[in-house]
Amino acid sequence: MERESIIVLDFGGQYNQLVARRVRECNVYCEIYSYKTDLAKIREMNPKGIILTGGPNSCYGEGAPTYSKELFELGIPVLGLCYGAQLMQLILGGRVEKAPVREYGKTEVFVETDSQLFAGVSPVTTCWMSHFDYISQIAPGFRICAHTADCPVAAAECEEKGLYAIQFHPEVLHTCEGTQMLSNFVKQICGCAGDWRMDSFVENSIAEIRRKVGGGRVLCALSGGVDSSVAAVLLSKAVGKQLTCVFVDHGLLRKDEGDEVERVFGPEGPYDLNFVRVNAQERYYKKLAGVTEPEEKRKIIGEEFIRVFEEEAQKIGAVDFLVQGTIYPDVVESGLGGESAVIKSHHNVGGLPDCVDFKEIIEPLRDLFKDEVRKAGLELGIPEYLVFRQPFPGPGLGIRIIGEVTAEKVRIVQEADAIYREEIAKAGLDKTVGQYFAALTNMRSVGVMGDERTYDYAVALRAVNTVDFMTAECADVPYEVLQTVMGRIINEVRGVNRVMYDLTSKPPGTIEFE
Ligand code: XMP
Repeated sequence: MERESIIVLDFGGQYNQLVARRVRECNVYCEIYSYKTDLAKIREMNPKGIILTGGPNSCYGEGAPTYSKELFELGIPVLGLCYGAQLMQLILGGRVEKAPVREYGKTEVFVETDSQLFAGVSPVTTCWMSHFDYISQIAPGFRICAHTADCPVAAAECEEKGLYAIQFHPEVLHTCEGTQMLSNFVKQICGCAGDWRMDSFVENSIAEIRRKVGGGRVLCALSGGVDSSVAAVLLSKAVGKQLTCVFVDHGLLRKDEGDEVERVFGPEGPYDLNFVRVNAQERYYKKLAGVTEPEEKRKIIGEEFIRVFEEEAQKIGAVDFLVQGTIYPDVVESGLGGESAVIKSHHNVGGLPDCVDFKEIIEPLRDLFKDEVRKAGLELGIPEYLVFRQPFPGPGLGIRIIGEVTAEKVRIVQEADAIYREEIAKAGLDKTVGQYFAALTNMRSVGVMGDERTYDYAVALRAVNTVDFMTAECADVPYEVLQTVMGRIINEVRGVNRVMYDLTSKPPGTIEFE
């Protein structure tokens, strides 16, 4: 790694991506690695600082994730968070035990403001606690620099060695001054300059892509979503006419979306992308016939994508590189980055089959979080309405139709979704609600319409607010709006006789249904 960076060692906690994002918000580049990453590799990466995350285990338990003591002897500052804090204390000679009182939720923490970690932080500050174990005795050479009513060691430090342990979670927004604490760690303690910025990212990426591609031909998978649009425009700036963008209409897009994508990125639009549209609807429906298992559906859709691209590439002639709009959360959530469990195999990562007919895959956004992709998009001059589009998953309506996908079900969900979007926009909620869509449940039930018995599908409406898509809350869409949407769907969409509103947050639900 040439650039200044912080590494996050992942011990399986749920907020690990957030840690990396918060560090990047301080304009410091940061990557997540498993706690199994060996010391030699860490030495080689030469980070300016290391952060140990939380995790679900007890650090004194048998087989609990751990690390060798040498990590703390590299001369690189280390910040342990929650489990990471306890582990640091245990390894260095402190004691960790089950707490008499479990602390969970927003908690008042009393901090020593003469600690570099808490410089500029209020002496009494609200922090997010979530722990069963506690540090009952700090390791030799440390001093306690924060406590709560129930927790004698909310933070401890050994300033001369640059070692810091925090029991709470500064990465979570409920910790009001958490960003200040992380900024203190990366800037004051680790000495990072904070020069990770999107303008330099765009410039460096263009140069790097040119060097890599040379005179080669590049094929880009364009979906019209933010990530692939930014990737395509970035590539077009880098290699111009050597790029061809293929847009696959897999028949799982929102209503009229295929035509809209063509209007913006096609020959009539403002970009020079050598745009090719492939209408592969029938082909997808055939592949998906009879398939109900969500992961299998995702894999089929992803694999078919690659097959279609291969065929297009053959038509174009020798293609050397395939571009994909994979972003960092796709990598981490697919279990490739850290230790967190695989929840869904993401379209851009897990869906890739083993053999691909290209020399190499270029993923120019692989290191970026979503907000960073958007910033890069603006840097590239992509209009705001495209950059701030709601996310739409690669597998499209395929994962918003529970169970088997058929052309008829696609029609139902497209129509219901179009009505929902129209009404949300009419109510002026399209700028405030994070992500909203209609999905088709696999449930049919009895209804009555015009004195006739019906036996039709139930549509589920979903609307969530989210900062980072890792967690989400159900959005408070006014009842009247929902009623209007319900009335229109029942009246206008053939095959639906029930409309439901999904109240589930994430966790325990995910935003999409599959
Ligand atoms: P979940 O359902 O995992 O979704 O809570 C989180 C966010 O990711 C989007 N999503 C995807 N995006 N390929 C994508 O490009 C996918 O396979 C995929 N699955 C979910 C989802 O729309 C939400 O914004």
